[in-house]
Amino acid sequence: MKYYHPLLLTPGPTPVPEQILHATQSPMVGHRSSDFEAIAEEAFRALKPIFGAQNDVMILTSSGTSSLEASMLNLANPDDEIVVIVSGAFGNRFKQIAETYYNNVHIFEVEWGKAVNVPDFIDFLKSLNTNITAVYSQYCETSTAVLHPVSELGHALKAYDDTIYFVVDGVSCIGAVDVDLQRDAIDVLISGSQKAIMLPPGLAFVAYNDRAKQRFSEVTTPRFYLDLNKYLKSQSENSTPFTPNVSLFRGVNAYAKLVEEEGFNNVVARHYAIRDSLREALKALELDLLVKDEHASPTVTAFTPKTKDELNFIKNELKNRFAITIAGGQGHLKGEILRIGHMGQISPFDILQVVSALEILLTEFRNESYVGKAITKYMEVVKAYV
Ligand SMILES: Cc1ncc(COP(=O)(O)O)c(C=O)c1O
Repeated sequence: MKYYHPLLLTPGPTPVPEQILHATQSPMVGHRSSDFEAIAEEAFRALKPIFGAQNDVMILTSSGTSSLEASMLNLANPDDEIVVIVSGAFGNRFKQIAETYYNNVHIFEVEWGKAVNVPDFIDFLKSLNTNITAVYSQYCETSTAVLHPVSELGHALKAYDDTIYFVVDGVSCIGAVDVDLQRDAIDVLISGSQKAIMLPPGLAFVAYNDRAKQRFSEVTTPRFYLDLNKYLKSQSENSTPFTPNVSLFRGVNAYAKLVEEEGFNNVVARHYAIRDSLREALKALELDLLVKDEHASPTVTAFTPKTKDELNFIKNELKNRFAITIAGGQGHLKGEILRIGHMGQISPFDILQVVSALEILLTEFRNESYVGKAITKYMEVVKAYV
């Protein structure tokens, strides 16, 4: 059977809604023109509620990693001590960036698939017995599908030492979670365009509070393209320091309109509904979930097939026969887990497609009927939300 509509269920990039695609294809305008100023002004403001930020959100024309790097180079001086929580591949990314530029990097390792234990982390900070400038953590660790308790972490950190900057990488969940810089004690919150914000790849976002903004101007670490002070100065003139991706800026505005139509609270609730329903469906398929319920991300779900052969069969057959793309594991979880992304413009019924395809594939592979088992569980949970 031919499937005419491929379904992209990786944890980024995500399907791009038609309205956004359309906006990105409008005729080009000069980036030093009043036309672009109007687009940029709207985009900087439009992202504030999504990030729970008081200040306009900075937009960089570069991938998400640039915002991870910028959040270090603009907060930490060369001799400062910084702490990175590593709970997966993207914690490792933070670590690699930190070790590229800094000598005093302290790593707090968290077992992959688990969330950071906040009291243990504070004990770790105490044991370092030194002045820490900044702490870096993922919000959703995409490689394991864990959502860390960032608000609890932020508050515990500030209670321990309120001079420490708390930086959160929200690349794979901003747009799908309720976050607020002030309420959650976050100083800098970064993200990228190609995940729950459902744009094509190519933009990075930096939200910050006033304290962080002040710090950006004081730090002496060398940086050029990623000097956030340049972006702040340009932003005050509704502009950017370097040629921006004008098309994607338009996409940001189209995204904001879609969120306004649906209501941001409803967008968040939809992601949680899908998470909860999918988890029940996977359990009905006797697929083990990597993450415990209380730390499961609303944007991506990781599960462990019974064998490597089963894993390969699921991933390949979903793609070849059903035109559904899901993701494998990263780092030492490669070949161990599969991940289904469910963020952006994904409806509960889109996910029903992958659930029913899994029923068919596992019925074949295990020679035991799963038909109707997982979709029943899925519908029982999802019906409470739709
Ligand atoms: C949590 C997280 N941080 C950082 C990145 C890196 O973003 P990019 O690939 O856009 O540079 C990703 C990408 O998947 C991510 O999921």
